Amino acid sequence: MINKLLIISIVLAFSMGTRSQDTPSLRDLAEERGILIGTAVEYDPLDSDATYASVLAQHYNMVIPANEMKMRALRPTPDEFTFGRADGIVAFAQENDMQVRGGPLAWHQAVAYWIRHRNLSRDEAMLALEEHIKAVVGHYKGQVFAWDVVNEAVHDSGMALRGTDISLYDSDSLWLTTIGPEYIALAFQWAHEADPDALLFYNDYNTEKSRTKANAVYNLVASLVEQGVPIHGVGFQMHINASEPPDYNFIRSEFARISDLGLQIHITELDVRISDMDTPRSESLQRQADVYREITNICLEFDSCTALITWGFTDRHSWLNTPADENAPLPFDMNYQPKPAFFALSDVLSAN
Ligand code: XIL
Repeated sequence: MINKLLIISIVLAFSMGTRSQDTPSLRDLAEERGILIGTAVEYDPLDSDATYASVLAQHYNMVIPANEMKMRALRPTPDEFTFGRADGIVAFAQENDMQVRGGPLAWHQAVAYWIRHRNLSRDEAMLALEEHIKAVVGHYKGQVFAWDVVNEAVHDSGMALRGTDISLYDSDSLWLTTIGPEYIALAFQWAHEADPDALLFYNDYNTEKSRTKANAVYNLVASLVEQGVPIHGVGFQMHINASEPPDYNFIRSEFARISDLGLQIHITELDVRISDMDTPRSESLQRQADVYREITNICLEFDSCTALITWGFTDRHSWLNTPADENAPLPFDMNYQPKPAFFALSDVLSAN
């Protein structure tokens, strides 16, 4: 018995020793800095891969379901709500003392098939969206602290809302074409009615680099604030290509003017792909780490930047995954080993 315990404790001491020396817990560091560090999570690996679950719980204090809270996942038919997988992620988060961010509630993608393939009138579309938002936010009332209420509503050109008939290359929003631009304010109102304590975000991409897109998002959220719509923050997705690192002062000026509106900032979907780089892989990984370092630094510079979230944490499970791992966009590699990007995060979070 004693021998067995001794062996177990030696094995544990060894594995914990290597872990805690080489890889400090990101969540411990983030908690000291007063910010949330989160990641998108997928139900299947969480359910089947113990390493995925343990690295997640060790390093993150917030999760976003990567797909499980999208409309298409929750609404197979008009009368059915399939909350099981999303509930599983929420239960895991609660067991591990993690916060949950939810959404997206109104998005042009992942619209339920039964809505997409019917010609809804304006009234029917409004009813469907209201019912959806109130049911989902109501189901997670008190359990999901923040929602991406409206996701990607601005056209890529930044010249109009997505769905406005200005050009053909971008995908339309059914919510805009059926309801009109007021779907945005309505979505926030409905979410607020369902859970008045939840923080409500507008979320979009390319706002770290496109002047026209960043202006359009700023104008949109400024007008929502002006109208008294219950919006509390802006999500910057930040899907970045390491071969074209963003202009960091551009990001600072965007964060500053969003903060001046009295809104919070969450970096919601950070990942940094390296597939376009022609440098040796080790150098590409360093350049990737540089981007992670700069973005984390900027978040810490702003009191209003309250959460840093990556879109996944291991290259084994990324939406940019390729069999040969060319994109490798996340802080842990395919085998859950920390990469230079991880150490950039832990360095910045532990610096004074
Ligand atoms: C992605 C998921 O990660 C993929 O698994 C899915 O196939 C497509 O959607 N911006 C968003 C996220 O707001 O919801 C997207 O997530 C990634 C881009």
